[in-house]
Amino acid sequence: MAEGFEEEPYVFKILLLGDGGVGKTSLLRRFIDNTFDPDYQSTIGVQFMTRVVKFDNKNVKLVIWDIAGQSRHTTYRHLYYKAANGIILVYDITRYKTFENLPRWIQDAMESVDPNAKIAVLGNKSDLEAYRAVQKELGELFSKKIDAELFSETSAKSGNNVEEAFLALAKALVKKSDEIQKNLGL
Ligand code: GTP
Repeated sequence: MAEGFEEEPYVFKILLLGDGGVGKTSLLRRFIDNTFDPDYQSTIGVQFMTRVVKFDNKNVKLVIWDIAGQSRHTTYRHLYYKAANGIILVYDITRYKTFENLPRWIQDAMESVDPNAKIAVLGNKSDLEAYRAVQKELGELFSKKIDAELFSETSAKSGNNVEEAFLALAKALVKKSDEIQKNLGL
């Protein structure tokens, strides 16, 4: 067995999906290096970042793909969806349209990803309470309807709930992976 393999047996590919400007890149930056940039530079195409998280004596490598949300990048997006284990659907609590568009994002992704992929739904920009356009209950209801693993309202700006959301998804992915291994008798 290759050296180091045992120390990092879990590797998961996670997609960040949602309309342009909802805060996908900002959530990723907050999770990866705990920073926040108030300027909006629309993602061109795709980027990915990795972080190893540790819990229950396990090292879990998350490879998180930040996919441009703006429609002009639609044509090649599917190329990056393949073999994803998890999807983080992001909307902006101050823009209803970004919430309304979530079913489209799932539909789009489900044509390419593992049908058992775990889904997290995040209502981002929770620091902008005064401008709220999507009630929290609506987000919760939607998450239940699509059988999402978790729902949370986050703020990439303040960091509220960001670490927790990524970790909760990672834990769900580990659990599922362990179950599969067990069923295979490994
Ligand atoms: P695309 O690359 O176009 O798909 O956008 P995106 O979803 O990656 O959004 P991005 O992270 O670039 O954020 C868009 C704008 O919203 C930026 O100006 C961010 O600073 C701002 N923003 C992101 N998250 C938050 C948040 O939690 N609170 C507030 N107040 N602003 C945020």
